[in-house]
Amino acid sequence: MKVAISGKGGVGKTTLAGIMARILDERGNKVLAIDADPDANLADAIGFSEDELKLVKPIAEMEEFIRERTGSKKGQYGTFFKLNPKVDDIPDRFSVVKGNIKLVILGNIAKGGGGCFCPENVLLKNLISHVLIERDEFVIVDMEAGLEHLGRGTTEFVDSLIVVVEPGKRSIQTAKDIKRLAGDLGIKNVYVVGNKIKGDEDVFLLKEELDGFSYLGSIGYNENLLKADRLGVSPYDMDNKIKEEVIKILDNLRALHV
Ligand SMILES: Nc1ncnc2c1ncn2[C@@H]1O[C@H](COP(=O)(O)OP(=O)(O)O)[C@@H](O)[C@H]1O
Ligand SMILES: [Mg+2]
Repeated sequence: MKVAISGKGGVGKTTLAGIMARILDERGNKVLAIDADPDANLADAIGFSEDELKLVKPIAEMEEFIRERTGSKKGQYGTFFKLNPKVDDIPDRFSVVKGNIKLVILGNIAKGGGGCFCPENVLLKNLISHVLIERDEFVIVDMEAGLEHLGRGTTEFVDSLIVVVEPGKRSIQTAKDIKRLAGDLGIKNVYVVGNKIKGDEDVFLLKEELDGFSYLGSIGYNENLLKADRLGVSPYDMDNKIKEEVIKILDNLRALHV
């Protein structure tokens, strides 16, 4: 399966992505986790140690490699470069591995007005297309609020876009914006996961406000997550309740895609 996770900043995208990856790992599924958020912290949510992380560098920061693959020249924007650079070896060469999980960190793409058409952007977009189309692992892409990384023509390979929301107007509005973008890109299955839920009335509010979405499940507000964040450990290793909640979400997702 190929799952992309989006939503407003701070709603819990990375938390969900990290726990999902660990559950799948425990079940023996091979997982390719892609951190596509410039504010990259999926590694912590999965539970990689600092030493393990020293082994991996965000792809966007590998300037020499990007130049080599795209044929671009240093400091020369607007000149010619390859639009279809070789990317198929990247997930295996530039990832860090924990159990069955392979993590690739994309890093920060410079954004020019109207979306930067520059070599690193082209390389990363090609990479995402490649993993969505060709890789046969369970792919989880931890994204930012926008859908910039998803190019037309590859979105048909996204089995599901999960939009994480919390009970509040702002993340609900972001979810609606994301759904519209997803519709423009032709992504068929857009789901909602409610996070930081404190009671039934929260779920009610989300379902009412987001009635065009299919509601995949809820994650309760959980003090242990804040503790995990402070200690820099994966919430997966801190708390069983959230594990159960995410297992339900994953099973609901799979049931919809058999
Ligand atoms: N269910 C929850 N209960 C309490 N805190 C949460 C919950 N989910 C996430 N958080 C906290 O909210 C913050 C943002 O979560 P994160 O997963 O990094 O969001 P995002 O990736 O969407 O920016 C973190 O400090 C995280 O520990
Ligand atoms: Mg995040």
